[in-house]
Amino acid sequence: MKKIVALTLTAASLMASSLVQDAKNAGLAPIPTEASKLLKLIDNPKNPITKAKVELGKKLYFDPRLSKSGLISCNTCHNLSKGGDDGMQAAVGHKWTANPHHLSSPTVYNAVFNDKQFWDGRSPDVEDQAQGPIQAAPEMAATQEHVVAVVTSMPAYVKEFQKAYGKNVKITFKKVADTIGLFERTLVTPAPFDAFMNGDENAMTKKQKEGLKTFIQVGCASCHNGVGIGGGMNAFNVVAKYKYMNVGDFKGDANGMVKVPTLRNVTQTAPYFHNGMIPTLKDAIKEMGRIQLGANISDKQAKSIEAFLGALDGKKPYVKLPMLPATNDNTPKPELN
Ligand code: HEC
Ligand code: HEC
Repeated sequence: MKKIVALTLTAASLMASSLVQDAKNAGLAPIPTEASKLLKLIDNPKNPITKAKVELGKKLYFDPRLSKSGLISCNTCHNLSKGGDDGMQAAVGHKWTANPHHLSSPTVYNAVFNDKQFWDGRSPDVEDQAQGPIQAAPEMAATQEHVVAVVTSMPAYVKEFQKAYGKNVKITFKKVADTIGLFERTLVTPAPFDAFMNGDENAMTKKQKEGLKTFIQVGCASCHNGVGIGGGMNAFNVVAKYKYMNVGDFKGDANGMVKVPTLRNVTQTAPYFHNGMIPTLKDAIKEMGRIQLGANISDKQAKSIEAFLGALDGKKPYVKLPMLPATNDNTPKPELN
């Protein structure tokens, strides 16, 4: 009896380890468990992560006063309580303006793992990226001068910059964006998938494991891979045309390449695709099969893949709502126009 149990266990663990191997061979990679390995993956050598910088970056991320109206922060469109996005088809910013290209907000969780940022990959990293939305007219609509004036008007902010970067810090627009970016680097969400890949066979359910197999067999991992389970640039409309291509004017980068979205926490970030026209995960999976792989994904396969995607729902880092320094007479006033 004992022997049989032992044998079955070995067979089961062999199967699990071969699935891990298949996933690795397909290019899928886990978030490392070891803190030092993870730090190496997410840190910015040019501006290393420290507690003081991350705390300050968090305040700036949540501070709507960086925007022209005083109402819109990064968290407005990338809501950390809601999967790191806004649930809109096209993002809505300053003066209730929808994104002019009908682009939806990608999640900021795990964005650090992207090779490039934005749907067309036009920015190399989260620090560079953060400069965009603050100044974009349909988003936060602020000038660089506005941002510096807001931050330097509040002595508590100036003190925090000094604490983070030293007494002689020069508070520039770039420094603000770099600090927000550094906070974003900490927004990683290890999931059951990672525990499974890192050796805990029972971290994923049977259905999720089957879904992972389907995901690999059908070919999804040829683009959704790496630690981000996405994050590279890839061709779009490979075998057929996306059925809502006519909504908005987005065509990808100069070569028609599109940033492959991370599938981490994807169950929380509907609606889907660059223009948010696909309401459910099941439809997104089927449309992907049709346009990217020329595969007719059955309901059963879609359900199986969806189960696997559930194993990418990660544990969010604990983010304590920051208390922001109070505005004073020197702080620029909100402007709604
Ligand atoms: C009005 C809504 C809005 C606001 C405010 C906003 N964003 Fe975004 N964000 C978007 C949209 C829309 C995109 C995609 C735009 C594109 O690809 O051209 C985006 C893209 C991103 C990306 C790229 C993610 C990826 O997967 O490519 C990151 C990171 C990001 N924003 C962080 C920020 C930060 C940090 C702030 C605050 C400084 C901010 N956003 C403010 C809507 C917003
Ligand atoms: C040839 C590369 C490629 C393949 C293969 C591929 N994808 Fe994608 N996937 C992309 C790109 C690029 C996008 C972004 C498309 C857009 O938004 O316009 C995307 C978007 C998605 C989205 C929407 C995510 C979001 O946040 O909006 C899901 C879900 C998805 N893919 C799942 C899958 C599944 C499941 C498979 C296998 C059936 C698959 N993909 C195969 C490249 C690929």
